[in-house]
Amino acid sequence: MEDEIDQIGFLFDLDGVIVDTAVLHYKAWRKLANSLGFDFTETQNEELKGVGRMDSLDRILGWGGMTLSHNEKLEAAARKNAWYTELTSTLTANDALPGAIDFIERAQEKGIKIGLGSASKNALPVLKQLGITGLFDVIVDGHALTNNKPDPEVFLKGASGLDLLPSSIAVFEDAGVGIEAALSGGMTAIGIGPEGALPDAAFVYSSLGEVDMELVISLIQKNRS
Ligand code: BG6
Ligand code: MG
Repeated sequence: MEDEIDQIGFLFDLDGVIVDTAVLHYKAWRKLANSLGFDFTETQNEELKGVGRMDSLDRILGWGGMTLSHNEKLEAAARKNAWYTELTSTLTANDALPGAIDFIERAQEKGIKIGLGSASKNALPVLKQLGITGLFDVIVDGHALTNNKPDPEVFLKGASGLDLLPSSIAVFEDAGVGIEAALSGGMTAIGIGPEGALPDAAFVYSSLGEVDMELVISLIQKNRS
């Protein structure tokens, strides 16, 4: 059994799966939108989950009916990022989502390979704030990516960093584009979110603490058989 477990991996999204930073991204983007003279709703913000920084800015500017030059966009994204990093600078392990760190530790103790697959360029500092960088065998973040989710690049790079085939991996995601990325990469996709969300995921749990690890392992075994 141990040998078999050694051959599987879990790839985790960060924002909204391990830590509740989705709300901090929202706060910072909203502050930017307000400074430009408009606002957007929490429902609109749902569409930004898993979406890269510049793509998020384009969508937000679209909602406000605004056009900015390339340099103005870079400056706006930098302002948002400065606010975001200020908000994340006080995070600690207590800000991890329910059961998240315990679940990753239990998986690691079982011999499952562990990786991070995040669109965020702030992933590493956030993991450091939480004190959990050492739990990951591979970290793929926004700095390593050419294509954003739903492109599977982030998880395919994670799989190759773990030296595993995509079929041997389960991805844990809170964003629709992330579930899409995992599925198009040939992996088992587990949703983290409210009931009824993420209809394409094999299962959806409210937090990592609720996940039935044995069930996920059996889904991976089925996927690769
Ligand atoms: C994703 C978040 O994880 O990272 C998005 O869900 C965010 O909301 C994206 O825009 C990019 O993050 P960052 O930290 O590089 O601006
Ligand atoms: Mg996320």
